[in-house]
Amino acid sequence: MWRNWTSGSNSNASDGALTSILFVCTGNICRSPLAEGIMREKLEQSGIHAVVDSCGFESFHAGDAPDPRAQTVARKHGIDISGHRARLFRVSDFDNFEQICVMDASHYQKVMRHARSEHDRARVDYTLNALHPGRNEEVMDPWYHDMKAFEEVFALLDKACEAMVSRLFRNHSRP
Ligand code: 4NP
Repeated sequence: MWRNWTSGSNSNASDGALTSILFVCTGNICRSPLAEGIMREKLEQSGIHAVVDSCGFESFHAGDAPDPRAQTVARKHGIDISGHRARLFRVSDFDNFEQICVMDASHYQKVMRHARSEHDRARVDYTLNALHPGRNEEVMDPWYHDMKAFEEVFALLDKACEAMVSRLFRNHSRP
């Protein structure tokens, strides 16, 4: 069943990938690398080939590994995000990713400001809209908080990624 995929009709993902997803946050060391790691894990477990990446909007941590607290919570759930290195959002991300998933309103506004067309704008959405479409709920920034906040963020992102993978399955599996 999981092997019966049709290729995405408007996919610009390379190498026969089903889709391409970019998660965006502020520093690219907490929320978006967690989302990237969770999504990679779920796609791998499902046998789905998709391109996944993450980035941020502030350069403070560009080139850095994920925050140790993010690495710890990911590792606790069997996911290794230690190899990720923070990078900034770039306009070419609109050409390379079908779905651009932001964590909060500030990222949404910044990504939209870089959009060159309606086509670009249509790719952008809040990550948590995978759970509650149209509500534009935000994933809070755990950077100033404790491990409990990182656990809460992980749980939210896990649910959202699960919903995204289920939607991929519904939209692309043959009857
Ligand atoms: P993130 O969290 O956007 O989830 O990676 C943050 C990490 C660092 C900072 C802000 C948010 N900072 O201001 O350095």
